[in-house]
Amino acid sequence: MKKILTGVKPTGDQMHLGNLLGAVLPFKRIAEQNDGAIFIADLHALTSVKNATDLQKNTHEMILTYFSIFGIDTPVHIFRQSDIPLIPKLNWILNTVTPYSLMLRAHSFKDAENKILAEIQESELGKNDNIRAKTADRSEAYWDSTMSEETQGLNAKIEVIPQLNMGVFNYPILMAADILAYDTDIVPVGADQKQHLEMTRDIAKAFNKTYKADIFKLPVEHIEPNVAILPGIDGRKMSKSYNNFIGIFDDAKTLKKKVMSIVTDSKWVDDIKTPDTCNVFALIKTFATADRTESIRTKYLAPGYGYGHAKLELLEILTEYLKPYHDARAMLEQNPELIEVKLQEWARIMNARIEAKMVEVKKVVGL
Ligand code: ADP
Ligand code: TRP
Repeated sequence: MKKILTGVKPTGDQMHLGNLLGAVLPFKRIAEQNDGAIFIADLHALTSVKNATDLQKNTHEMILTYFSIFGIDTPVHIFRQSDIPLIPKLNWILNTVTPYSLMLRAHSFKDAENKILAEIQESELGKNDNIRAKTADRSEAYWDSTMSEETQGLNAKIEVIPQLNMGVFNYPILMAADILAYDTDIVPVGADQKQHLEMTRDIAKAFNKTYKADIFKLPVEHIEPNVAILPGIDGRKMSKSYNNFIGIFDDAKTLKKKVMSIVTDSKWVDDIKTPDTCNVFALIKTFATADRTESIRTKYLAPGYGYGHAKLELLEILTEYLKPYHDARAMLEQNPELIEVKLQEWARIMNARIEAKMVEVKKVVGL
């Protein structure tokens, strides 16, 4: 049995059908067959969520989402990162063995920096030639004490500095602490996290080498191969960034509105249609039973069946598919204490693991 662990940042995004099929259900399968854990990375979210109510709300929503999908009695350890008090301590110790040069290579920081620089260039502040020249290559210009008060005022106004904080820079080291703390073997993640796993291994090796001791296990990432891309309501990849998604917990009215607005070609009811290029059919095929899919395919190939009919069938199929998740959520909303008990129980187990690891760590470093 392998130790499987992943983390999700509570950024307030709703989980959609693409996430469910492409990431969450594949994770659930491996996690249930192994020693699996998933945590809500609320400490990581502090790098971008700067409002207590929002953070609480997002974290609660994530927890409710995962328990509704996994079931309250899941063997998968669902916990909150901030319920593990030794994580920030391990994070600091790992900071002290992590080469600065390693951190400078992090794509996640460069991406955040480029995004902010682009925002600045487009803003009022970016119209100032002096600033434009300075920001052309580095965001350090923002700290320039020679800036006029007027410029510094503008600077504060667009609030760019808090976005590019040291937490964003140190993010991969905190992630390494999350993973190394529990002797994790496998970390299921999206492809965008591959470099973070490489950095985690580099940090583990740096620690082991510095203290000439085999303390940290080297984890490997698991990136789900051949994930079928689920289309969104406009036919592009379903994604929160395109706002074309169907949320797992969309209410009946929203679901209906979204399904009815799925983009199709303009064939009439009596035209023969091509199911394999139709967005409605792509979703039907994914969520309906094989028999029902085949019967709908036959209807596409005959007159008298329009996209309106297909959409109503899809609505029924999705409603049925999502019902167990909606029912579980409604039950948990009625009984929030069930979740709190589980979170405490899983946190106790994960705390015991990191405590044991920290005994070894403290011994070799001399604390
Ligand atoms: P989004 O595109 O909505 O921002 P993310 O990039 O946060 O989604 O996706 C997280 C994970 O969900 C990805 O690693 C991927 O495995 C899965 N995923 C997201 N969208 C889809 C999709 N349309 N089809 C299949 N899997 C998806
Ligand atoms: N960085 C991950 C993301 O943005 C979230 C995360 C934090 C994580 N700590 C982790 C994922 C540890 C896996 C393991 O998606």
